[in-house]
Amino acid sequence: MPIQTTPNIWHNGKLIPWEQANIHIMSHVVHYGSSVFEGIRCYKQPQGSAVFRLPEHMQRLLDSARIYRMEVPFTLEELCAGVVDVIEANGVAPCYIRPIVLRGYGEIGVSPKGSPIEVYIANFPWGKYLGGQSGVDVCISSWNRLAPNTLPSLAKAGANYMNSQLIHMEAEVNGYAEGIGLDVNGLVSEGSGENVFVVRNGVLYTPPLANSALSGITRDSVLTIARHLGLPVTEQALPRELLYIADEVFFSGTAAEVSPIRSIDRILVGDGKPGEITKKIADEFFAIVNGLKPDRFGWLTPVKVSNNEPVTA
Ligand SMILES: Cc1ncc(COP(=O)(O)O)c(C=O)c1O
Repeated sequence: MPIQTTPNIWHNGKLIPWEQANIHIMSHVVHYGSSVFEGIRCYKQPQGSAVFRLPEHMQRLLDSARIYRMEVPFTLEELCAGVVDVIEANGVAPCYIRPIVLRGYGEIGVSPKGSPIEVYIANFPWGKYLGGQSGVDVCISSWNRLAPNTLPSLAKAGANYMNSQLIHMEAEVNGYAEGIGLDVNGLVSEGSGENVFVVRNGVLYTPPLANSALSGITRDSVLTIARHLGLPVTEQALPRELLYIADEVFFSGTAAEVSPIRSIDRILVGDGKPGEITKKIADEFFAIVNGLKPDRFGWLTPVKVSNNEPVTA
């Protein structure tokens, strides 16, 4: 879906017009994929609008930058304030927020030393990413996720998404909504842009981060909600075939939120309908982000948006 533009983008501490947020073709990032970024949602609520888990996202951005030795000239607080500023200046909520740190225009060698660090934060309206609450049909990808000690999975780096594109494109051309990647040892890792959860015999499972999964903020939120609901939760390595015999499987992610999976490789998950535990967790998640239940975990940062725009997609 085409991006709906907004008036301003935050660049290195200042708001600039959307049309002026450009980089040169010879920038380091264009040739070598040298960027780290975030994807964050701001929800509209009866009492106003609020960004979901803003400090956690911006801390992950700083962590990703640190892994790649990128020195970000802004503190966590300054970056969080930048997100609030750009949302309030643009007056768009609900919205999706895309902060990005990249290596800009300087030198052409692989060494990033002479290329300046640039920080941008954009926000724009964005709707549902996967099929909503009825469940999506997915496949196991023939592409593995990133092997340990190659591209680090805990960094949310632009370059990682070349692998995500392979997984997602393969799924799409074969008629699936999404693909699940196995790690280099054939164990379940994650979707191209989502973490994976499995329910079997009343226990909630998700792969540990060592299986080349991103440390998802929504993953952490699901684990927190599940523990709060008194559900048994286990982070452990999962063989591929467990997905075929699971009672319930769902994705978590900022874009996907909590999305039930209906089938995997054309094998129905359970009876093909969203399961009870998935529903319980999704209900709790959406109640919190939509402001219908108290923010008991302190996950919401309020923003003042007077000109709320509906998400059209
Ligand atoms: C590869 C990958 N895994 C998992 C996730 C879910 O992470 P989060 O819940 O922080 O959005 C994402 C989305 O950012 C992703 O791109």
